Amino acid sequence: MKIAILPGDGIGPEIMAEALKVLDALRRDGLKVEMESALVGGAAYDAYGHPLPAATLKLAEEADAVLFGAVGSPRHDALPREHRPEKAILGLRKECDFFANLRPATVFPELADASTLRAEVVAGLDLMIIRELTGDIYFGEPRGVSGEKGARIGINTMHYTEAQIRRIMHVGFRTARQRGKRLCSIDKMNVLEAMQLWRDIAIEIAPEYPDVELSHMLVDNAAMQLIRNPKQFDVMVAGNMFGDILSDEASMLTGSIGMLPSASLDTNGKGLYEPIHGSAPDIAGKDIANPLAQILSLGMMLRYTFNLVEWADRVDGAVKRTLAQGLRTADIAKAGEPVCSTSAMGAAVLRNL
Ligand code: IPM
Ligand code: MG
Repeated sequence: MKIAILPGDGIGPEIMAEALKVLDALRRDGLKVEMESALVGGAAYDAYGHPLPAATLKLAEEADAVLFGAVGSPRHDALPREHRPEKAILGLRKECDFFANLRPATVFPELADASTLRAEVVAGLDLMIIRELTGDIYFGEPRGVSGEKGARIGINTMHYTEAQIRRIMHVGFRTARQRGKRLCSIDKMNVLEAMQLWRDIAIEIAPEYPDVELSHMLVDNAAMQLIRNPKQFDVMVAGNMFGDILSDEASMLTGSIGMLPSASLDTNGKGLYEPIHGSAPDIAGKDIANPLAQILSLGMMLRYTFNLVEWADRVDGAVKRTLAQGLRTADIAKAGEPVCSTSAMGAAVLRNL
């Protein structure tokens, strides 16, 4: 098994370093994996003039899984769109067909009071958002800005094929089947034709999963319900843009976006694993970022791509014990609580492994 390691920009390399210590420890205990790293995002642009150089893409394509840090930096925001760091993650999703994004939002009991919502609203929350990653307004044509200054037109297109909707819906139903057996499909069928198709296909597929209860919710209402009563949801399935927005919202129910891993899978279970959070350039290089989402992303990789459930449980368990022992990086510490560094958090996870 070969893992492509793509640390990226900002806090990416620091949090990846901690995840790699965990991976090294597992290898010493007999986990048979090889690793190879490459530059991606702004770091790759600086070195090779492209955020997703051919060699990096090739490495990702040939590997069995990709462990990804984060991309993006203010320094690169003024570049033409095709050279911006974000293009790297969008390109990897598209080229490797990582269409199914699994974004769990689980509240660790130790952190139930880290949320801005009341603890009783979020305590015990265990929600899975399934987001489609290769279609929608992110990739739809036509797109662009045209016309003369003063009369310019900006266009992006919400675009979904039946096949794209169908395959993500199946992931939604299968995931619900393995969990609480409730799937809520998110759309905006009251306004958008593409979203009517989304809903029609959800309804069409439902009879194949008689044990799963399907419901539908308009995205604006879903945004409200996530704050009002998030525990009503088991699995949500959404298109690329609505899933992007709702998953950031859901992450805050848990208290810290710094805690949440994600998986982006192709049809064969190969995947790219990355923290939900971004590159956080404002805190990069200070040894204060939370490495747990990156470490938990490694756990998800062992679980979903390699089917090594016991090894994955070991990683997740080490994170849980570390939190139970009271270690907190700044993002999850309460006022007045002592704060630990990125490397101290990584070292504690390693001890607990
Ligand atoms: C995410 C991010 C990306 C997205 C950006 C960085 C392109 O927000 O993974 O959620 O919009 O998909
Ligand atoms: Mg996002």
